[in-house]
Amino acid sequence: MTRTHGKLHLSAFVTAGPGRASGWLDPRAEHGWLSAAYYQKIGRILESGRFDLAFFPDILAVPNRYNGSIEGQVRYGALGSLRLDPTPILSNIAAVTERLGLAATVSTSYQQPFHVARTFATLDHISGGRSAWNIVTSFQDAEAKNFGHAEHIGRDERYAKADEFLEVSAKLWDSWAADALVLDRQNARFANPDKIEAIHHQGRWFNVQGPLNVPRPPQGWPVLIQAGASDAGRDFASRWADVVFCSHASFESAKEFYSDVKARAVRHGRRAEDIKILPDITPVIGRTTEEAQKRKARLAELVPDVAGLSTLAYHMDIDLSQFPLDEYLPALKNPSIVGHYDEVVEITRREGLTLRQLGKQYGGRTEGNFIGTPSEIANGLEQWFTEGAGDGFTVTATDQPGAFQEFVDTVVPELQRRGLLRTEYEGNTLRENLGLATPAPGAWRERIARNR
Ligand SMILES: Cc1cc2nc3c(=O)[nH]c(=O)nc-3n(C[C@H](O)[C@H](O)[C@H](O)COP(=O)(O)O)c2cc1C
Repeated sequence: MTRTHGKLHLSAFVTAGPGRASGWLDPRAEHGWLSAAYYQKIGRILESGRFDLAFFPDILAVPNRYNGSIEGQVRYGALGSLRLDPTPILSNIAAVTERLGLAATVSTSYQQPFHVARTFATLDHISGGRSAWNIVTSFQDAEAKNFGHAEHIGRDERYAKADEFLEVSAKLWDSWAADALVLDRQNARFANPDKIEAIHHQGRWFNVQGPLNVPRPPQGWPVLIQAGASDAGRDFASRWADVVFCSHASFESAKEFYSDVKARAVRHGRRAEDIKILPDITPVIGRTTEEAQKRKARLAELVPDVAGLSTLAYHMDIDLSQFPLDEYLPALKNPSIVGHYDEVVEITRREGLTLRQLGKQYGGRTEGNFIGTPSEIANGLEQWFTEGAGDGFTVTATDQPGAFQEFVDTVVPELQRRGLLRTEYEGNTLRENLGLATPAPGAWRERIARNR
């Protein structure tokens, strides 16, 4: 599929913590994770670069998948060593921005739908229709153990639970008609009781009476984001998601994923353009190709191998301490995190990396494809966009906020010059900027799995 018109969308992957270990070791990195001003500065940078949204991932435990210990994470400041709750951070960014979308990750495995639906409805109101929810089902036993469970529930079960969670959330957002709030002082009518209804949901996982105590969000529902890679994950995403994140080592695998998820959405009665697929990229930018390659090598040098390996062990849900450090990562038949494992095996083979070298690169977050001058990076993005591998990109920073500023100063103008990126926001709400319709009340009926 070759695209001949339209603009690409940009999401920024912002961590409320150091991110990869290079994210605090790099001399350019700022260490402001515990201050609101740090996130507000990032929000302003992204809005000046006309990003659609700032997206915050989340983890509900300090990962201990490497050798059953948190040491590799906390000693070296790796991915899950320190992580603030993203939702209050988004309120702070909302206060200093006007158009930037605001996305937080919340797990359907450990929270309650009433609480989550209420939080995102609130954020949607106070931001003027800019909220988004990245729906994850979580995959770590360490996370289960923080919520009273011995181990994590199996994949099919957790997606079935996610489906019901979304159904309840959507019913709650629909529980107020858009015009239910009247505020008629003269007749002492605050809201119209005929337009606010309880939901009386009785299900396998949740019993919720409703209604919500927050009026219908300006966007109808917040923008829904998902990143499932397995068959169950892709199916869930193709029914519920407005935006899909994914991670791919090659153009070919990104293309395969793109057409598969779009085809699944169409099979569920949606239009291919109702779902925006934004593959994850980590640009490493230089004034010359050599300078960018040197920066990539420097970032990997900064990071102790165990910092990267303890993060990779978390991402792949495999204890990598069992494999020899000076050999290749073995190909496994049934990896627990489908997609990501194969992707990492592909990178190690392509670049000829031992596990030790892979750990350093992974900790430096430079394992991706987009390394070079701004125009070389724009060439790659243009190819992925026009040849059907993405509707845009999720940009991760090697360091915050420096790498975002650099991307906005160098790659963004290049994309704008080529007519691939907006120079002004098209609308006020995130849905408007993404070109997505507002879901009609009751739209959840078409989204739930038929054979749940
Ligand atoms: C770009 C990207 C971001 C993700 N962010 C998170 C996250 O913040 N928290 C989380 O628990 N899982 C996150 N995941 C994991 C996915 O939600 C999902 O569990 C994983 O891709 C495996 O897919 P599956 O659940 O269908 O097996 C992310 C995945 C990708 C590709």
